Parts: sequence; C-alpha cells; structure tokens
Amino acid sequence: MKRILKYLWKYKLLYIIPIISMFIAIALDMFNPVIYQKIIDDVIKGGNHGILSKLLLALLGITIGRAVFGYIREFLFDYAGSKVTFDIRNDLFRHIQKLPFNYFDGINTGELMSRTTEDINNIWNAIGFAIMFFIEQILYLIIATTLLLTIDWKLALICLSIMPPMLYLAMKLEKKIGEAYEKLSDQSAVLNTTAQENLAGVRLVKAFGREKYELEKFFKQNQENYELNLNQARIWGKYHPVIEFFSNLVLVVVISVGGIFVVGNQITLGELVKFNGYIMMLIWPLRLMGWLTNIIARCNASAKRIFAIMDIEPEIKNPPNPVFPTKIQGKIVFDNVSFKYKDQYVLKNINLHVEPGSTIAIMGTTGAGKTSMVNLIGRYYDCTEGRVLFDGVDVKSLDLEFLRDNISVVMQDTFLFSDTIEENIKFATGNVRTEEFDKVVVESQVDEFVKEMEEGYQTVIGERGIGLSGGQKQRISIARALLKKAKVLILDDATSALDMETEYQIQKALEKRKDITKIIIAHRISAVKNADEIIVLDKGEIVERGSHKALLMKKGKYYEIYCEQFKDLDISIDGLKEGVI
Ligand code: UTP
Ligand code: MG
Repeated sequence: MKRILKYLWKYKLLYIIPIISMFIAIALDMFNPVIYQKIIDDVIKGGNHGILSKLLLALLGITIGRAVFGYIREFLFDYAGSKVTFDIRNDLFRHIQKLPFNYFDGINTGELMSRTTEDINNIWNAIGFAIMFFIEQILYLIIATTLLLTIDWKLALICLSIMPPMLYLAMKLEKKIGEAYEKLSDQSAVLNTTAQENLAGVRLVKAFGREKYELEKFFKQNQENYELNLNQARIWGKYHPVIEFFSNLVLVVVISVGGIFVVGNQITLGELVKFNGYIMMLIWPLRLMGWLTNIIARCNASAKRIFAIMDIEPEIKNPPNPVFPTKIQGKIVFDNVSFKYKDQYVLKNINLHVEPGSTIAIMGTTGAGKTSMVNLIGRYYDCTEGRVLFDGVDVKSLDLEFLRDNISVVMQDTFLFSDTIEENIKFATGNVRTEEFDKVVVESQVDEFVKEMEEGYQTVIGERGIGLSGGQKQRISIARALLKKAKVLILDDATSALDMETEYQIQKALEKRKDITKIIIAHRISAVKNADEIIVLDKGEIVERGSHKALLMKKGKYYEIYCEQFKDLDISIDGLKEGVI
C-alpha cells in the first residue's frame, strides 16, 4: 500500500478538488433532513407557509449542488485513479522489458498477463472509488451518529444497538464472498489458460485428433467454474436477506419507538423524519463497509504481486561505466567460455576467434549448445566462466544497448507480429521504407513471393491476416535482421525450412556482404560448407573445427554427418581429392 501511496503522492494536487467536493457533498446531504423537519414542523404543523418556497428552493439548491459536487468528486477521483494506474502499468511493463531471458524461462505468459491486467484493475478499483467511498462512508458514520445522538440520544441508542449485528453480518458476507471470489478468479485463470492454449494449438489438436480429450478437459473446468459461481450465489442468498431484515428492522424501530416518542411529545414529527433521514445515512455505510474493505484488501494483494516483479533486479544490466567503442569492426572472441543454465554445464571451455567479415558455422546435434553459445554474444545470458569479447572488449563492459544494436539475430523460433509484412521487416528500424529495404528483401528472397501477393508488402500476416509457410516466415525474419544493418549477423537455424535453391540464393547474397561478420547455425551441410571455419559442437564442447574440405579429410563427426546427408549420392572422399565435391 505504501508504494501505491507514493504514486498517489505524485498527483496530490489533483486530489485536493475532489476531496473538497466530497466534503461539500456530505455537508449538503446533512442539510436535507433538517429541511424536511422544517417543512413538517414549521410549515405543515406550524402554519408558517411563508417560508415554504424558501425551503423548497433550498431543497432544490441542495439537490443541484449535491449532483454537481458529486460529479466533480466522482470524475476527478476517477481521473486521478486512472493516471496512477496508467503510471503503475507503464512502470510494470517497462520493468518487464528490462528483465533478462532467464526470467522468462521460469514464468508463463498467462501469469504475466494477469499481473498487467487483473492485478492492475484491482488497484484501479481501490484507488478509483473504493478508498474514496471508504473515507466518505466513515465520515457519514461519524457525522450521522453525532447528529442522531443530538436529536434524541435514547432513540439513537436503541437504533444503534441493532447496527452491530448488521455490520457483523455484512462483514461476514463479504469475507465469504471474498474467499469465493478468490477461488473463482484462480479457477477462471485456469479455464482461460486452457481455452487459450487450445485455441492457440488448435491445429495440433486437430492433427492429433484430440478434440474429444480437449473438450472433456474444458467441460470439466467449466463445470467447476459453474459450481463456484453457484457457490457465490448461495452465500449471497444466505446472508443478504438477513442483512436486509436488520436494515428494515432499524426502520421499523425508528417508526414504532419514534412514533411513541412523538405521541409522548418527546420529539416532534419533523424531528422523527429528520432522525429517519440520518438513520438512512448510517445503514448504507455499514452495509458497504465489508465490500469496500474487500476491494482494498484485494488491491493490497495485487500490489504485493506487482511490486514483487518490480523489485526483481535484472541480472543482466548495463555496467556502471559502459564502454562505447568508436570504431566497430564486428570481431567476436570466445575466450575459454563455460556456461551453465542452473547447475548443469551446457558449454565447456569454448575458444573461438571470428574475424570481422568472416563466416563461421556451428554444427552439432540437438541440445549440443549451439543456441546457448550465440546467446552469450548479445548478453541474452551471461557466461559463467571465461569471457566473450566484442572487438576486443568484454561484452560485460560494453554498453548493453550499443552491443545489442550491433548484433542482429534470426532466432530459431520465428516470431512475426500480426502486422503488415513491411512493418515486420522494419521492426528494428521503424523508419520509412528506404533503398536498403528494397535491397534486403531481394537478398533474403522475400521479394520473390511478396511480389505475387495482391497487397504486396502491405499484406497483413499472422492472426488477423493471411498465413505464411514456415520458409516464408524465415525469409521475412532474415530480411528483418539484415535491415538492422548490424556488424554481426547470427542465423540460428534460419534456413532450415527453405528449399536448397532459396537457401543457396540467400547464401550467395550473404557471401557478398563482406562488411558483416556472420555466425550461422545449421544442420545441413549445404548451409555451412562455404564458411571460413566450421565448428562442430558436441555436449557443449568443440569436438572438431576447420574448413569444409579439411573436416571431410579428417573423417570425423563432420564427415559422418556429411555421409548421412549425402548417402544417396555416389561420391566418395576420393572425389574430394579430385575436386568433384
Ligand atoms: P541449446 O538450445 O543451446 O541447444 O541447449 P542447441 O544446440 O541449440 O539445440 P537445437 O539444435 O536448437 O535443438 C543446450 C542445452 O541447454 C539446455 C538444453 O536442455 C540443452 O541440453 N537448456 C537450454 C536449458 O537448460 N535451459 C534453456 O533455457 C535452454
Ligand atoms: Mg538451438
């Protein structure tokens, strides 16, 4: 809560006017019963008809004033509340953006979505209206009780004695409803995740014929949801009529005991009406108290969850005195690098020199550590031992933004936004379409299929647009990476879905790019054979290295892969010597 108050403090001036309006509105409310009393006692019973018009005018004035100040209060509290939640949501999102890859390895998207939506809404509910209502109801309670005691303390005490059970029941109802709500909210999250996963993976579900299983899973969860909803209704049904009974009982007591007092001339009829007016001002706060404390408690729990995320210090952050090299060449060195994710080493003693402009290829079985290795260059993860150098400087000393600006990656899992092809390619640069754009789309073979499309580069892809083949997505990812114009280009299995011809065309284009250092991860010999150096990784270690020819001559792992991939071709190693391969 303290942290939320800090945010509220920023807008303290914005709160002055609604708070004043709230006070005025309450004060005006307090005058209403007084006027009723005067109308009954002085005008109807006393025959002083002359003041009736003034009283009615005052009543009208109060009603208008109440509406105006009520509106100002409501609007400005909402306005300030929205500003505060806007800030919290932005700060949370900004912080999430700063968190490193390993944070996202351990959390699912659904959970983060709940933080940025449901939890933020809970905070909004509290600061948008619940806290304001809470303060307002407390003020009503104090003022109305004082006024009741001054009208007739005996009648007041009789009525007030019925209030505690009502308050108790109202609080109990809210506690139960609150518990039921928590259960329902957790269950709804599970239901949503199931629905979302099923919809996202609808193709997989259909392909595996698992519709029946998925339906049953969903039905079961929906049934639980239905029962939890019913449970809420049952609690409501159990407590609400009793609370209603007590509220009415108070009014019955006011009328009957008050009536006796009027008959006995202890109070006037007008005073009884005034008394009744103030009693009404007591009943609502008591009934709302439980609901409001619940919203505030929920806000508190949500704030804890949100600030727990905000308190996570990103493990990978900018060094205190970052280095900004003036001349960028794109040389990468792995100096005895070892790396582990948790306890298990996935890279051991890696030594590698990648000269500016050269091409290095990394091969190896799945899980050998290829992706992990390239992830260390842009500091998506930090190496456990040894150093990774960019142009001779340890990447941990470089300015993080500078480093990442100079590295372009085509990740293993292609991700495209639901947007136009052009916007997807311009993702890193975000500017207008330039000549460079036209160049990279040809190099990455994107132009070849986009020119066939009716809307060309303005075609919307993804969920809202048309679907693309795996290879087409990869080509767009390559174009996106090339357009970034970074000195180092990393292709992580980026041509795996392409046919040989397209892959060859892209390779040829990349070979001409003498100005950028290329690191290519691939499984196919065809994708790596022209590299200046090929390294073969196995269980996190470099087991072989050299050029395509040298590795074939060695007849080691690379040769095995080669034979496996070309087993149908009748070319032997002797062919290599004769220059056939
Ligand atoms: P890599 O992801 O580096 O393997 O994982 P790779 O060579 O690129 O494999 P392919 O070709 O893309 O399939 C190396 C090891 O690190 C572990 C994996 O289980 C694997 O054994 N790993 C990977 C983690 O423990 N955590 C991760 O987040 C990623
Ligand atoms: Mg990989």
